[in-house]
Amino acid sequence: MSNNIVWHNHKVTRAERSDPKNQRPCLLWFTGLSGSGKSTIANALDVALYRRGYHTFLLDGDNVRHGLNRDLGFSDADRVENIRRIGEVSKLFADAGLIVLSAFISPFTSDRRLVRNLFPAGEFVEVFMDTPIETCEERDPKGLYRKARAGEIRHFTGIDSPYEAPQSPEVVLDTSSQSVDECVEQLIQYLQDRNLIL
Ligand code: PPS
Repeated sequence: MSNNIVWHNHKVTRAERSDPKNQRPCLLWFTGLSGSGKSTIANALDVALYRRGYHTFLLDGDNVRHGLNRDLGFSDADRVENIRRIGEVSKLFADAGLIVLSAFISPFTSDRRLVRNLFPAGEFVEVFMDTPIETCEERDPKGLYRKARAGEIRHFTGIDSPYEAPQSPEVVLDTSSQSVDECVEQLIQYLQDRNLIL
């Protein structure tokens, strides 16, 4: 970073930008294997919150990799940079007063911790999609596990690239045993219990 850069504090604060009578800005960070249900559940929650009148924004892996992060691949270093950028973007959206839903494999504990540390305590909610890899591989919605097993894709998470499961996530979901509605209900309950939505 250049030495000649000075941080400007905005006159309108994050709390003022949000609707304090209604919601608190926060980040729900969905992490898990490909096919574990991150995007499905994040989308369903997004719809449920939107219908109840909350202001949200959804970021997810495939979409962000079409634009902002189109220069990044799946080496360890590129995944680190992917998550670093998404963490910063998520923070900007939260600063704009929104409930942010970010769904990325985010396989490394240290990267998820960096994102967590960008947020005030209680405003980062790690949602671990603890769906067994056998189920993810059986679903294989994009045919990527098959290609990875055939050696056509290298560095595929869970096959020849590691996934470090969260040790103390705020929420654990398993879409092999829970329906979409049950997962959404559990998340809404969590947000209500923590006064993130009122
Ligand atoms: S990461 O690890 O957090 O940087 O990955 P992410 O940005 O979430 O992107 C994951 C999606 O990219 C597709 N894809 C791969 N995933 C894992 N490993 C390899 N090698 C790979 N190549 C392509 C895949 O569709 C992931 O989407 P999801 O929704 O997780 O299935």
